[in-house]
Amino acid sequence: MTDKYAVIGNPISHSKSPLIHEAFAKQTNQDISYERILAPLDGFELTVRDLIASGYKGANVTVPFKFEAYKICDSLSARVISSGSGAVNTLINIHGKIHGDNTDGVGLRNDIEKNLKFLIADKNILILGAGGAAYGVLNSLIGAKSITIANRTSEKALQLVMSISDVNEARAKMFEELDAPYDLIINATSTGLTDTALPIPNIIFSKDCLAYDMMYGRETPFMKQARENGALVADGLGMLVEQAAEAFYLWCGVRPETQSVIQQIRNLA
Ligand code: ATR
Repeated sequence: MTDKYAVIGNPISHSKSPLIHEAFAKQTNQDISYERILAPLDGFELTVRDLIASGYKGANVTVPFKFEAYKICDSLSARVISSGSGAVNTLINIHGKIHGDNTDGVGLRNDIEKNLKFLIADKNILILGAGGAAYGVLNSLIGAKSITIANRTSEKALQLVMSISDVNEARAKMFEELDAPYDLIINATSTGLTDTALPIPNIIFSKDCLAYDMMYGRETPFMKQARENGALVADGLGMLVEQAAEAFYLWCGVRPETQSVIQQIRNLA
């Protein structure tokens, strides 16, 4: 019998998740269906309860419901609890109970280390932004030499810094205070959506630096600035596929190969 899965968000029509999971299923011979579901902004919980009652085995959760998803879970994975982010992107139906996990952090780490061959251990990392996206991936940067968080609103950066553990140095800065190069710079702001440039100095980039934008689909002002300053540049498509692969593994118990799927999705753009 076909196992049913879905991605729930609002908006959702742009989501590439069905294409990714269909490719994983084909590759690993799993009999699954995977659809996009638009939940009303005030109707997320009801939508999930309906899916569970209809026998769906699991779902991915995207903007703006990741925090609400956390709240409706009956149980949570250890990494969700230890991250403290209060966000869930993967739901698993365990005999009618909802188990929540978050695969965003491991998705980012796998893309950076496995696909881009950039090792995080002992690196000086700069994260731009201190919203949900930044919070969701912080716990995946364990082993870094230092983490600096720069944000327009300094209190939010400070709050995030206080949640960091297992890293030698963690600090918060304003964009204007950045005055040295970093090994890895992750843009976790939503500025790519509006083509807004961040007030960041060119000195933070170098030819050995990886500049990673969590957005995908087009070159953002951050990516353009990084490229013009000689950095290696990556968008978030690899992370999207890797977080999906981890969710697929949680649901189906098999790990799909991701490189060919990243290429396949990139070719569609
Ligand atoms: P997400 O879930 O995508 O992280 P969010 O929680 O609303 O969304 O966070 C958006 C992030 O982008 C925040 O760090 C926000 O900065 P503030 O905390 O100061 O609001 C950042 N951001 C959004 N628009 C920005 C802009 N024009 N300039 C600088 N930072 C911006």
